[in-house]
Amino acid sequence: SWTMLNIVEDAVEAIRAQIGPEGRAICGLSGGVDSAVAAAMVQRAIGDRLTCVFVDHGLLRKGEAEQVERDFVAVTGVKLRVADAQERFLKALDGVTDPEEKRKIIGREFIRVFEDEQRAILADGPVDFLVQGTLYPDVVESGGGTGTANIKSHHNVGGLPDDLRFSLVEPLRALFKDEVRRAGEELGLPAAMVWRQPFPGPGLGIRIVGAVSRERLEILREADAIAREELTRAGLDRDIWQCPVVLLADVRSVGVQGDGRTYGHPVVLRPVSSEDAMTADWSRVPYDVLARISTRITNEVREINRVVLDVTSKPPGTIEWE
Ligand code: XMP
Repeated sequence: SWTMLNIVEDAVEAIRAQIGPEGRAICGLSGGVDSAVAAAMVQRAIGDRLTCVFVDHGLLRKGEAEQVERDFVAVTGVKLRVADAQERFLKALDGVTDPEEKRKIIGREFIRVFEDEQRAILADGPVDFLVQGTLYPDVVESGGGTGTANIKSHHNVGGLPDDLRFSLVEPLRALFKDEVRRAGEELGLPAAMVWRQPFPGPGLGIRIVGAVSRERLEILREADAIAREELTRAGLDRDIWQCPVVLLADVRSVGVQGDGRTYGHPVVLRPVSSEDAMTADWSRVPYDVLARISTRITNEVREINRVVLDVTSKPPGTIEWE
């Protein structure tokens, strides 16, 4: 739209003024819409003087790493460094079952990998600016200060250590989520990225109840992709706030398939309706859609022989299981 075009153009102009004709910037991409829109704006403003970093921790959903590495780069022309850190995260998470411990480990490893990338970028010359996709609600939540500290580092894996060597560039500081999405459309970003539902920073790491492993991640990724595909096909994306799919990796139940007995894992569907994730209600997804998801998951994902539905509101249940 015309006004959104103006908002984007004004933001690009302001970024140019802030960074100046020589300045360089870095930006971490998480796969989410906020960092993507912020990065795309800064790229428009300063081109190759922006370097983006994508830490591939192996905990994203099916297709999401490719969205960043291939589609986002193709559309924006952003200069991107990809850190393939999947092995490192698997090793660090090996045998860990406690949810908060998982979060701590993922956050810590993320920062270490990002700092390695940062060092490599700094070897090409000084960088004074760090781009962050801070939104207006984040600014309000944190008391509204401008500054150098990262507001959400306690919560988001996309968060970085406070690093006072950098000035922050926060082109989304005045925008609400729906405006960010419209800006993303204006910038031509991939629809899957622009309309992505909330997804936690620690990713699938906190959707496996039990220890994380490569095999378990693959199982969950397939089941999650089927659920998302069927919810989208049924036109429910805008009604559902988010729908975690959770793998109960240490639970097995008996099933039967063909003429064989199975002893597989259950997955939980957790579709919720919400305004802000503070409270939520379980979504009344039509039975035929649930049936299709269940049939497809149990047919297409060998290790899963049972699909269950979470009908708990928040409170008392949180949206995620961990
Ligand atoms: P809960 O499970 O607390 O989730 O009801 C509320 C919202 O926050 C997301 N969530 C997280 N996001 N890092 C994040 O960036 C996290 O560790 C984390 N834990 C939960 C969750 O997906 C929901 O949208």
